[in-house]
Amino acid sequence: MHVAPSLIGDKPAVYELLLKQLDELFQHEADVVANLSNTAALLKTTFNWWWVGFYLVKHDELILGPFQGPVACSRIAYGKGVCGTAWKLASSVLVPDVHRFEGHIACSAASNSELVVPVIKNGQVVAVIDADSEHFEHFDTQDKLGIEAIALLLAQKVF
Ligand code: SME
Repeated sequence: MHVAPSLIGDKPAVYELLLKQLDELFQHEADVVANLSNTAALLKTTFNWWWVGFYLVKHDELILGPFQGPVACSRIAYGKGVCGTAWKLASSVLVPDVHRFEGHIACSAASNSELVVPVIKNGQVVAVIDADSEHFEHFDTQDKLGIEAIALLLAQKVF
């Protein structure tokens, strides 16, 4: 399913469908890497974002996990960049213009807006979902809520 941003009239319904598809996938597979890989693939093919994927918390840093898109930074320190900030705050960070976010880590010069959502398991951030777009102000509250619902499902069924 590929949906161009302008064609997504009912984003909550698209996220609802994604959630059902992911839930179904997770029921048949217990491996974390397999499930995160398919989650990234499903988000990429649905929304065609520039980059979407995971950073996993390992000790005191985030390490690149399954993703779709161009080569990205492998490691991000706690509190650094948008990803490290979402980890530190344990809450989503929506950035309409990455060039105005102090400390933004530019893995790709093409990225102009970003949404990072933490996956929280037993009160601890275990990973973040990172979505990047080449468009400014690409992500909105509906994306934030949609990705947060996916993060919750991942916390319950995958991690
Ligand atoms: N921009 C992110 C780094 C990860 S890449 O965008 C894939 C950040 O500032 O944390």
